Amino acid sequence: MKFLSAILVATAVAFGALTIGFTAPGQAQDAAAAWKARTDAMKGSGGAAARINKAEDAKATVEDAKTIQANVAKLGGLFPAGSITPESRAKPEIWTNMDDFKAKIAAVQKEADTLVATAEKGDLAATKAQVPVVIAACNVCHSAYRGPAKQ
Ligand code: HEC
Repeated sequence: MKFLSAILVATAVAFGALTIGFTAPGQAQDAAAAWKARTDAMKGSGGAAARINKAEDAKATVEDAKTIQANVAKLGGLFPAGSITPESRAKPEIWTNMDDFKAKIAAVQKEADTLVATAEKGDLAATKAQVPVVIAACNVCHSAYRGPAKQ
């Protein structure tokens, strides 16, 4: 009986160690996934903005404008607490100033909505003119909450 309970204790300890062992990598994986999702969304917006700049007819800009709008709408959910990875340029201040961070997302959203509305009206010149306005709003957040490039 003594032997059996020793095994049970050993098993419980091993299981506990396993559970603890799993927690940290799980969080690291969530952080890595969040980092990838947000950088993909941001790069997607940058690419779409560049295509609008080169577009030759207004119709071709609608989809890219909507891509930016959809990517910006996702941002609020892509910065879970603690999601700083080694590659991440996110500043820790994001999580101590979350209301301000979200206000900066909302400001870009407003400009992206205008971009979509302008593209849908078919006014190519006005759509192109709205791109730097959107990017300026993106950069307001970058100046506050994105650190210097890594490497
Ligand atoms: C509310 C803040 C915020 C807004 C709004 C925002 N960004 Fe970002 N952006 C960040 C942060 C923070 C990072 C760094 C994320 C990281 O590395 O974890 C980043 C990273 C990037 C990157 C680099 C991706 C990479 O490869 O590392 C690009 C490109 C980018 N943003 C473009 C944009 C564009 C275009 C917009 C507007 C349509 C935009 N961002 C809006 C905060 C923001």
